[in-house]
Amino acid sequence: MARVHVESWRSTYRGLLPENFLNNLDIQRRLDYWRSVFENESPGEFALVAEHSTQGVVGFVSGGPALEDLGPYSGQVYAIYLLASQQGQGIGRAMFEGARGSLVERDYAGFMLWVLEGNPTCGFYEHMGGQLIGRKEDQIGGQPVTELAYGWAST
Ligand SMILES: CC(C)(COP(=O)(O)OP(=O)(O)OC[C@H]1O[C@@H](n2cnc3c(N)ncnc32)[C@H](O)[C@@H]1OP(=O)(O)O)[C@@H](O)C(=O)NCCC(=O)NCCS
Repeated sequence: MARVHVESWRSTYRGLLPENFLNNLDIQRRLDYWRSVFENESPGEFALVAEHSTQGVVGFVSGGPALEDLGPYSGQVYAIYLLASQQGQGIGRAMFEGARGSLVERDYAGFMLWVLEGNPTCGFYEHMGGQLIGRKEDQIGGQPVTELAYGWAST
């Protein structure tokens, strides 16, 4: 998951986030992050992986309670990443539907997620039925960015 996280951030955000920020992403730091997530996991949270028969984990999706109140969206997909080499074969849809199922199991009424403006994945979310429900200004790697919220009113 740590490797996918770093590789996918680099391929997804090249041109959208500062080059030195992407170059400084570190698999060991991500490994520590994921270890602490799993050690402190609460019942409301989940993470699913897509595993290739020979390449190991090639994608993951995680979620849990919404971290901000944006109306009738009590669940949130925190992250969904798939290695570029594995995209376009239906794995993303399978991960997204897996996340939806995990949210349903935990009784969330709708869910939302944040995506960087300019990320082509906005098209994927719209294709999966997401509605644009909000935007916020933020900073990533020292660069001002706009993030968009997509919502699914029911799971
Ligand atoms: C978003 C992501 C998980 C989608 O995974 P994927 O395996 O490429 O998507 P799929 O092949 O399962 O596509 C599912 C459907 O969405 C459509 N789709 C995929 N990407 C799309 C896009 N960018 N815009 C519009 N539609 C898209 C496909 O055509 C397909 O349609 P169909 O099933 O009706 O024929 C993957 O592209 C990814 O990891 N992207 C980079 C990381 C990223 O940006 N993550 C989100 C951060 S907020």
